Amino acid sequence: MQSTNIKTSEQRRHDAMALLARQSGAAKPAGSKAIQRPPFKLEFDIRDFSTYPEIRAFDQHKSIIERAGVENPYFRSNEGTTGRHTRINGKELISFSGYNYLGFSGHPHVNEQAKTAIDQYGTSPSASRLVTGEKPVHRELEAALAGFLGTESALVFPSGHATNVTVIGHFFNSEDLILYDELSHNSLVEGCLLSGARRIAFKHNNVEHCERLIAENLHKYQKILVAVEGAYSMDGDLAPLRDFVRLRQQYPVLLFVDEAHSLGTVGSTGRGISEYAGVSPNDVDFWMGTLSKALASNGGYIAGKKALIDYLKYTTPGFVYSAGITPANAAAALASLELLVQSNQPVLRLQNNADYFRQLALDRKLNIGPSLDTPIVPIILGDSEKTIRVADQLFRAGINVHPMFYPSVPQGEARLRFFISSEHRKEDMVYTLDTLASAL
Ligand SMILES: Cc1ncc(COP(=O)(O)O)c(C=O)c1O
Repeated sequence: MQSTNIKTSEQRRHDAMALLARQSGAAKPAGSKAIQRPPFKLEFDIRDFSTYPEIRAFDQHKSIIERAGVENPYFRSNEGTTGRHTRINGKELISFSGYNYLGFSGHPHVNEQAKTAIDQYGTSPSASRLVTGEKPVHRELEAALAGFLGTESALVFPSGHATNVTVIGHFFNSEDLILYDELSHNSLVEGCLLSGARRIAFKHNNVEHCERLIAENLHKYQKILVAVEGAYSMDGDLAPLRDFVRLRQQYPVLLFVDEAHSLGTVGSTGRGISEYAGVSPNDVDFWMGTLSKALASNGGYIAGKKALIDYLKYTTPGFVYSAGITPANAAAALASLELLVQSNQPVLRLQNNADYFRQLALDRKLNIGPSLDTPIVPIILGDSEKTIRVADQLFRAGINVHPMFYPSVPQGEARLRFFISSEHRKEDMVYTLDTLASAL
């Protein structure tokens, strides 16, 4: 017997005609009711984007740069590898604006491995990995990541941001609850939104607040996820991971840790926040990280239990329906991991440099906020226009550092954000902070 849901071809033709008639503004088919639209006035001209409220608000926000009377610091073209130095408009500057934490981007071994991968596999995976895009270098990278992190398995995605969006968006749903740190990166928040889960931000690094929210909601949801970052990219502080692991031991919750800025930079061998905090890799359910920072490439990963990774590999939309990471990028990340395993000297140099920079800043009575034991050091100046002007002065003195202001950080907490690299020299840091102190 035919199901009543299956339409006959005659019904389908009738529906299609009715739809066409509606779209072309023609009279409705006989018998259909006229749609009652509430009378409302369009507040913008749909074809003139400059009249859109969001675009007007954006232009207003951008005008802060004009008010500060400086050159636009965004989208400057960096003409070479960004490491200790960068070149802009032909001028060499000391750079504190890139994530090349260990100097691996531009490292001869990494460049060579990326070029070899291009010679061997071409420049594109040419398909989703699920079908014909899989290359040996993808598997080698995933095995190396899992080995380095001490997890059962790992899966690499084409972008770090998209890893958070697609994995959280896919794995959680409207019957779940996601508790996330209020300073979480945009990609975590976008993932929560996509999932349809109830989401509540807990106060930054406030384990008690997180615990209270867990206790209040424990039996109301199917799954509860607690999401934190290893190192926070605006403040340069670390998550109190041991305390979050205790919550995970005490309550039936899942723990997600984004290691974008802690992989390769934290822990005595760069194994990240688990090494720093002395917790087992098995104490976290989702280890997430990016390849675009210490690993000198592009892409993201999730590492964890094999059952989870196998499921994600066959079902996550941003993996299944997207071409895999390029062979050259996979090879670059793999080569960087090899360097990291070979020697922890770059990691130790980076950590010494960051400590040295913090000390120099404190000696000059600069406000570094809660930055500690990470390669991210904000110098908080407060006022947005002033921060933009100081960044411009530094730029003209040969120092590249970016101003961060509202809405990236709270009102009144505008700052210059310094990313330290293992390749910086003491004289770079002394010159920079002396120039900053005299500019202030
Ligand atoms: C905490 C965090 N997660 C995810 C991302 C996204 O990573 P990617 O830039 O590699 O896409 C970033 C980027 O800066 C980040 O800071």
